[in-house]
Amino acid sequence: MTQLVTETEGDQRGNKGLVRAAVAGATGFAGQELIRLLSRHPNVTITMATGSQATSTPRRLPSLSKIWDGTVVPLNAAAFAADAVFLALPEAASAELAPVLLASGLRVIDLSGAFRLRDDAKRAKFYPATASLPAGVAYGLTEFELDAIKSARLLSNPGCYPTASLLGLLPLQRAGLLKKGADIIIDAKSGISGAGKAATGRTHFSENHGSVAAYNPFGHRHTPEMEQALGQGVTFVPHLVPLDRGILSSMYAHLVPGTTAAAVTEAFERAYADAPFVRVTGDALPEIKHVAHTNFCDVGWKVDEATGRVFVVSVIDNLVKGASGQAIQNFNVMYGFDQKTGLL
Ligand SMILES: NC(=O)c1ccc[n+]([C@@H]2O[C@H](COP(=O)([O-])OP(=O)(O)OC[C@H]3O[C@@H](n4cnc5c(N)ncnc54)[C@H](OP(=O)(O)O)[C@@H]3O)[C@@H](O)[C@H]2O)c1
Repeated sequence: MTQLVTETEGDQRGNKGLVRAAVAGATGFAGQELIRLLSRHPNVTITMATGSQATSTPRRLPSLSKIWDGTVVPLNAAAFAADAVFLALPEAASAELAPVLLASGLRVIDLSGAFRLRDDAKRAKFYPATASLPAGVAYGLTEFELDAIKSARLLSNPGCYPTASLLGLLPLQRAGLLKKGADIIIDAKSGISGAGKAATGRTHFSENHGSVAAYNPFGHRHTPEMEQALGQGVTFVPHLVPLDRGILSSMYAHLVPGTTAAAVTEAFERAYADAPFVRVTGDALPEIKHVAHTNFCDVGWKVDEATGRVFVVSVIDNLVKGASGQAIQNFNVMYGFDQKTGLL
């Protein structure tokens, strides 16, 4: 693990927050979003912000000037003063750091995939740096895991594609409306920030602008995460689209014979009756612009009763509901705050 860098000046607002929160990976896309959101959270004092060892000279975050004017500085481990630590790190770094923080009695909210998969063989394949799951880990798809999240010591925040896709499929699966053994196709499009701040040949502006590309069919590491939650296989194909942020997931599934459109509507409305961040839109199909820069997931659908098929479409902002916003929603549940605190 590289050294942590810390910010010890405390919350620049002078707010007497109840929970001291630290953000590791604060210079990344998800980490900066965390700082932006946490800085206005009424029950949080930001006590630490970190970057990687390679670029660990003290620095400000210019885009957050006058929102959060703290400094990202090298860690003095002895001064790691926090109650909860958000990890917005590459998964290998999370796999190494989280157990150390847990052993010190801190609660950890990890945005990486390091602790999402329960199956040892699948975890070894997709997240080889995570040798085992620490005690007290909970999968943080907030709308479906509230009880486990409340008592979590290590909150494993879902992936961005799984967040959008599972929120579109789980209401049908839980209501027993999906035909057993029939394939589910998940065709999802993501903006480029989903790949993090380091440009690659695929994510470079000149490559991506004006193009759309499928990548990693069958082999994406979010496939086992979705299959774990659904309890069945899926055909998942992600695509990169020339947007800076946002995910749109189009899902195609077969219904139990005889399922009506009204039964599908009832399943969605019942599942999200008390969910502050899921908006069901029925056959008014949602689009990314409706949720960009928010913690909302909008879910729409269309049923073809004649053939027993359902089309579901869900949209999120990958950096908010797909990462930092959902992490804070989970933090709120863990600490007994209203889910909406700091997010609306
Ligand atoms: N982007 C998304 O839409 C999204 C959605 C859901 C989940 N996630 C997950 O969230 C995590 C962060 O994603 P991101 O997109 O924000 O990544 P990113 O933009 O690449 O930022 C990575 C952050 O981690 C730091 N870092 C890199 N290597 C490190 C190391 N070895 N030790 C300590 N710190 C290190 C970087 O610091 P420097 O600035 O010093 O390099 C930076 O602050 C990843 O695990 C990702 O899979 C991302």
